[in-house]
Amino acid sequence: AAGMLWGGRFTGGIDPLMHKYNASIRYDKALYKEDILGSIAFARANSKAGIISQDEFQAIERGLFQVMEEWKQGTFAIMPNDEDIHTANERRLGEVIGKDTAGKLHTGRSRNEQVVCDMRMWLRDRIKEVDSQLVAFLKVIVARAESEIDYLMPGYTHSQRAQPVRWAHWLMAHAAAFKQDLERLRQVFERVNLSPLGCGALAGNPFQIDRNAIAEELGFSGITANSMNTSADRDFIIEFLTWNSIFTNHISRWAEDLIIYGTSEFGFVRLADSYSTGSSLMPNKKNSDSLEILRGKSGRAFGQMAGLMMSMKGLPYCYAKDSQESWEPMLDSVDFVSDSLGIANGVIATLTVRPERMRAALDMTMLATDVAEWLVRNGVPFREAHHISGRIVALSENTEVSMDQLTLEQLQAIDSRFTADIAEVFKYESSVEAKSAPGGTSRSAVLGQIQELRAILG
Ligand code: ARG
Repeated sequence: AAGMLWGGRFTGGIDPLMHKYNASIRYDKALYKEDILGSIAFARANSKAGIISQDEFQAIERGLFQVMEEWKQGTFAIMPNDEDIHTANERRLGEVIGKDTAGKLHTGRSRNEQVVCDMRMWLRDRIKEVDSQLVAFLKVIVARAESEIDYLMPGYTHSQRAQPVRWAHWLMAHAAAFKQDLERLRQVFERVNLSPLGCGALAGNPFQIDRNAIAEELGFSGITANSMNTSADRDFIIEFLTWNSIFTNHISRWAEDLIIYGTSEFGFVRLADSYSTGSSLMPNKKNSDSLEILRGKSGRAFGQMAGLMMSMKGLPYCYAKDSQESWEPMLDSVDFVSDSLGIANGVIATLTVRPERMRAALDMTMLATDVAEWLVRNGVPFREAHHISGRIVALSENTEVSMDQLTLEQLQAIDSRFTADIAEVFKYESSVEAKSAPGGTSRSAVLGQIQELRAILG
């Protein structure tokens, strides 16, 4: 341990397994660029504060750019004592510009703020990418909803046919959930994008460093409020994992609907070959693996959120190494949510829709509510109308005659108030068009939803 960057007070060596267990370099090296940009901004601020000279700053900056280049070229050699990206970069800087000047970089700084800086920078940039992927996905949904607005299908509750709706209404139903995810993601971004630099290990910076100037240089929109909280807190990651749990939950329900709609029994949609796989045994099989994996990711996202919450629970203020457990879920969740969005986008963009199968799945009993509503318009209290309509459904089922094929006499035998214009009710189009209040399934109401979402997507 005497050989470690922090080894001054140590005489004994570190146990090899302990070194492996403690080290984070195998994954935090992915953030070499953020680490270096953070260091340059910090050194610049130290030079402005007069803590290091202009010449020293320039040497540090030049050296750090060279180290960055080595990472980019893949020539950076990780040494056995390199514990994490922060110590690796500083060690290498010493070799490049000499230990005396390199040794001034860390003046007034702690790895506790450095790690938070790296992660916040990296995560906010990834959130921007996820944001545009989500926007792209929503644009595909909206385009389909608009061009396929005339397809009607059964809407379900309890997995039982309920009322006719537009296929576009189903598309926009899930889009409404994803739109809220987009809004939530943008709120998370605001809290992630704050600079921790100038907070020290926990107590703050003693050299009158200009925290706001550092924040500005690194593209942060502000600075964190409290130095103790800054080194203790991993909420910015927990919030992203929470966001991901909610989002992947929505994706899983969307995927589940499409899996069901894609079965031979439903046949509403057909998944493109490019997003399906076959069976090693049964030549006939075409499986919806893309949608199933999308559905499955939800469990992983929730596990990562719950796992980090448990790691952070009860951690005494300020920093403790438990916080390092935030790295792997952060890296992994960003990785798979980005892939998931790419897959979801591809699935919906290439999906074949079969409106004739959707239409064939409608049946006249789904208009029973419309019959009750016709009675309501003719002065019958709804509870009574519901009952009358229910008797017509029963008659239709018992006689195996579709509701629209029952004679006026049969209807009037159930309730004398029926007149010939009840025939108008037995049209699926009239049913969906009646739902014209905002948010409903009429053509104008669905187009309204499309328009509103488009305005947000830009
Ligand atoms: N790898 C560490 C982490 O992710 C960096 C911070 C180390 N700080 C410390 N005081 N040992 O948490």
